[in-house]
Amino acid sequence: MKLNLKIWRQENAKATGKMVDYQVDHIEPDMSFLEMLDILNDQLIEKGSDTIAFDHDCREGICGMCSLFINGEAHGPDRLVTTCQLHMRKFKDGDTIYIEPFRAKAFPVIKDLVVDRSAFDRIQQSGGFISVNTSGNTIDANTIPIEKHDADRAFDAATCIGCGACVATCKNSSAMLFVSAKVSQFALLPQGKVEATDRVLNMVAQMDQEGFGNCTNTGACEVECPKGISLEYIAQMNREYLSASLK
Ligand code: SF4
Ligand code: FES
Repeated sequence: MKLNLKIWRQENAKATGKMVDYQVDHIEPDMSFLEMLDILNDQLIEKGSDTIAFDHDCREGICGMCSLFINGEAHGPDRLVTTCQLHMRKFKDGDTIYIEPFRAKAFPVIKDLVVDRSAFDRIQQSGGFISVNTSGNTIDANTIPIEKHDADRAFDAATCIGCGACVATCKNSSAMLFVSAKVSQFALLPQGKVEATDRVLNMVAQMDQEGFGNCTNTGACEVECPKGISLEYIAQMNREYLSASLK
């Protein structure tokens, strides 16, 4: 396949960015989207041009780094996949593809397609953990019986990879789906109940402080989430938040 690419180029957070046209050739349908960008970067290196900066790490749908807005959709046209799992068979020879970074006030552009998502790290640090006794008397987690329904829901919440697609997709740049997954994965388990009150209050306060918008129940986040995190977790977090506020 031969493809026309329109790619966002931006030197740094303060620079004015713009879409730049590129052409890339010899793209196989079985290549991943990131492999297609690798080939483009090889071509740019051969020409002595500045390569396109984009984030990636695992290339297996696990780390959440490969956050690209492709033809107006977070992680591109496929569903329940990250950009690294998106294959070029989803495109046709001669297609024009628009590639942009995830856009949100709380995700400033570092360079080109790379954004700074450390706001998510700070939200996690404010409460996305449990404290355990590691003095040698640690109780094995499996000794505490947990209802299967709760275990399954906690596991589903824990599959959030922190990619930020929910934020990039939301018209309000809301991080509610991400934060609700991180709150719920602990709130549903006995080990998470000890710090549940502080957790939800602190994480929501940090989310607001980082400049994310509010949730207006549009549901776009759930559609674009590569891990299928459900809006139900936002309802769960709202319940947790209400009960914590009344204590
Ligand atoms: S909730 Fe989904 S879209 Fe949002 S950060 Fe987690 S995995 Fe990504
Ligand atoms: S590179 Fe890790 S999820 Fe895509």
